[in-house]
Amino acid sequence: MELSKQHMLVSSSLFLSHKVIILLSCFNLFGLATASTVIRGNDTDQQALLQFKAKITGDQLRVMESWNSSIHFCNWHGVTCGHKHQRVTELELELLELSGSLSPYIGNLSFLTKLNLEGNRFSNQIPQEFGGLRRLESLNLANNSISGEIPWNLSACSKLAFVSVRGNQLTGAIPASLGLLSNLKLMLLGHNSLSGSIPPSLGNLSSLEGLALMANALSGIIPEALGKLTNLSELQVEENAFSGVVPVSMFNLSNIRAFNIGGNRIQGTLPTEFAITMPHVEFFSVWGNQISGQIPVSISNASVLSVLQLGDNRLGGKVPSLENLDQLSILLIDRNHLGHGAEGDLNFLCTLVNDTKLEILDISKNNLGGLFPKCITNFSSTLSYLIIEKNKIVAGIPDGIGNLINLEVLAASENQLSGPIPSDIGSLQKLNTFYAGNNLLSGLIPHSIGNLTALTELALDFNNLQGSIPSSLGNCQKLQVMDLSNNNLSGPIPPQVLGLSSLSIALDLSSNYLTGELPTEVENLKNLGEFYVSRNNLSGFLPSSLGSCVSLEKLFLDGNLFQGSIHLSFTSLRGLVELDVSNNNLSGQVPEFLVNFRSLQYLNLSFNGFEGVIPNEGVFKNTSATFVEGNDKLCGGIPESDSGVLFSTNYMV
Ligand SMILES: *[C@@H]1O[C@H](CO)[C@@H](O)[C@H](O)[C@H]1NC(C)=O
Ligand SMILES: *[C@@H]1O[C@H](CO)[C@@H](O)[C@H](O)[C@H]1NC(C)=O
Ligand SMILES: *[C@@H]1O[C@H](CO)[C@@H](O)[C@H](O)[C@H]1NC(C)=O
Ligand SMILES: *[C@@H]1O[C@H](CO)[C@@H](O)[C@H](O)[C@H]1NC(C)=O
Ligand SMILES: *[C@@H]1O[C@H](CO)[C@@H](O)[C@H](O)[C@H]1NC(C)=O
Ligand SMILES: *[C@@H]1O[C@H](CO)[C@@H](O)[C@H](O)[C@H]1NC(C)=O
Ligand SMILES: *[C@@H]1O[C@H](CO)[C@@H](O)[C@H](O)[C@H]1NC(C)=O
Ligand SMILES: *[C@@H]1O[C@H](CO)[C@@H](O)[C@H](O)[C@H]1NC(C)=O
Ligand SMILES: *[C@@H]1O[C@H](CO)[C@@H](O)[C@H](O)[C@H]1NC(C)=O
Ligand SMILES: *[C@@H]1O[C@H](CO)[C@@H](O)[C@H](O)[C@H]1NC(C)=O
Ligand SMILES: *[C@@H]1O[C@H](CO)[C@@H](O)[C@H](O)[C@H]1NC(C)=O
Repeated sequence: MELSKQHMLVSSSLFLSHKVIILLSCFNLFGLATASTVIRGNDTDQQALLQFKAKITGDQLRVMESWNSSIHFCNWHGVTCGHKHQRVTELELELLELSGSLSPYIGNLSFLTKLNLEGNRFSNQIPQEFGGLRRLESLNLANNSISGEIPWNLSACSKLAFVSVRGNQLTGAIPASLGLLSNLKLMLLGHNSLSGSIPPSLGNLSSLEGLALMANALSGIIPEALGKLTNLSELQVEENAFSGVVPVSMFNLSNIRAFNIGGNRIQGTLPTEFAITMPHVEFFSVWGNQISGQIPVSISNASVLSVLQLGDNRLGGKVPSLENLDQLSILLIDRNHLGHGAEGDLNFLCTLVNDTKLEILDISKNNLGGLFPKCITNFSSTLSYLIIEKNKIVAGIPDGIGNLINLEVLAASENQLSGPIPSDIGSLQKLNTFYAGNNLLSGLIPHSIGNLTALTELALDFNNLQGSIPSSLGNCQKLQVMDLSNNNLSGPIPPQVLGLSSLSIALDLSSNYLTGELPTEVENLKNLGEFYVSRNNLSGFLPSSLGSCVSLEKLFLDGNLFQGSIHLSFTSLRGLVELDVSNNNLSGQVPEFLVNFRSLQYLNLSFNGFEGVIPNEGVFKNTSATFVEGNDKLCGGIPESDSGVLFSTNYMV
């Protein structure tokens, strides 16, 4: 079992939204218009507002009702006027569920400094007339359903310091003219459908502090000119189709705090002088590109680095010391070619012991070898994700792992871990996912595993675990998946474990040496989708209570010593897609009710003692779905085919 990776990725949007708040609160300080009165400007403003209202087609919260002639428009909801001249300086109607289109008359609010319509349902285009708002400093149309292109003449709003059209359906290219907005501090165009490449003119935005273009369809190279943006502190261009190499000048932006180019097709290497040229970087992400070479040794000097996402690239070689990164909370270097599969590869981990902020560590799917370092047990107790899957890590899970009391996910599958599972694992009260399958673990499953009451997923498959399944597992009442298959487990299946009604996804106990009967507590598995006990030494009659497992889609009981007939209660298992009872000692009639199981695509009754006539409807009509060989007493006998796989209904007729 393998952890799905997507949820681990962290976006840098927190940085930017924080920034927006600061910037906007500054605007309130100089929101008043100062220019001279335009004759009858009042009327123009009222007319423009009424035209704006007229285009609003949906107003569930009835905010626009206050926009009526019984009060002056300066007192209408969301409208702010300059004290002296009664001209509209701010129009703020955010998060009000307003729908309709944007009136071009807004372009007549010539004293407007701030327009904020964020989080409504405005649609259609941004009117060209917005280009007439010469005093506009802040334009926020984020999170609407606005389509069409960004008007090129927005560049005429030369006072603009803040533009956000994030989260709309804008198409077309970023107008090169926007490079003229010399006062622009934040340009947030993310989460649209913009295409084309970044116009090099944006390199002229000398005041720019934040540029967010993520989640569009932008392509081409990241222009060298952006390296001129010396005030830039946040760059987010992730989830586009950018290619080529990042210009060296970009890595030279000494004010950068957040840098995210993840999810593109960018090549090249990381700069060797990383920490020297970006001394303030807190968030650095290049995940999901084609970056090669090594992680620069200088990274250890990036002392304020908090998030480092290098996953899913082509990085190789040794991971350098991370010794001074004591602010690091998220380290994702998974899915690269790091390490030499040898001792010493994991030394870098021990350089993190003094990092008291560490929360997420993902080094999975690399070539990292050597001992599972014991220093892990001295890691910060803030660690919540420890993901080391698919490497070449050897030796045991260190005793002391129980110190990591905030651990929620421990994923160590597909390594060469040996020895027992330490019993202090039971201290990990928050652990919800424990994957250690496909290793060489031996010894008993510790009884303390029953202390892991937050556990939802447990996979210890393909190891050499011995002894019986601890009945304490029955305390893990949030377990949805349990895979203990392919071990040397023996003894009976504890009724407490089979009675775990939380099991919903899969229970796999196959390929062990389990004995005894299937406990009747199996009836509690009402939500279970897949149940495997293949290839054990289970015996006795199949409990009729198995009929309560009405959610089952896959049921594999093959390769045991079950006897008796298939109980009529199985009639309720009609959601079954795959049913295998082969290689047992079952007898009696082939149940007629199976013909009504519409979802059934695989039915294996082979090598039992079934007798009588094989039905010829439903799944039995499909000769590539039904297998009945090795049942000597079935009517007409079994066809003489040596592979014996198919039993043709034609043969029966
Ligand atoms: C006009 O606005 C005022 C103030 O919001 C409100 O009390 C009044 O009900 C509105 N009148 C109409 C006719 O909607
Ligand atoms: C305001 O804008 C509209 C549409 O953009 C235009 O037709 C109108 O003439 C402008 N002037 C006034 C005074 O409303
Ligand atoms: C827009 O919507 C997204 C997703 O619902 C949300 O995370 C974000 O905070 C909203 N506001 C802005 C300005 O993006
Ligand atoms: C940047 O500005 C300079 C002068 O202000 C101008 O000459 C140049 O063409 C601009 N560059 C781009 C790419 O627009
Ligand atoms: C990086 O910045 C330094 C000093 O600020 C400058 O000397 C150097 O030329 C820059 N390198 C590039 C590639 O822009
Ligand atoms: C870290 O910076 C110091 C001085 O700022 C320098 O002497 C040292 O070589 C740097 N270390 C690395 C690994 O780059
Ligand atoms: C951690 O801190 C201790 C005590 O300050 C120090 O002796 C040790 O060298 C540090 N280890 C690392 C890897 O930074
Ligand atoms: C853990 O830290 C303690 C105290 O600093 C130290 O004595 C011990 O050797 C460390 N253990 C490992 C395995 O690093
Ligand atoms: C498991 O829980 C029991 C009782 O809650 C406690 O006494 C025991 O120390 C725990 N064991 C571990 C290894 O955490
Ligand atoms: C049916 O079961 C028999 C015995 O377990 C097995 O050999 C055969 O491969 C199974 N058929 C299929 C298609 O899996
Ligand atoms: C198979 O079942 C029959 C009864 O149906 C029983 O007599 C026999 O001992 C069983 N064989 C094995 C190997 O369990």
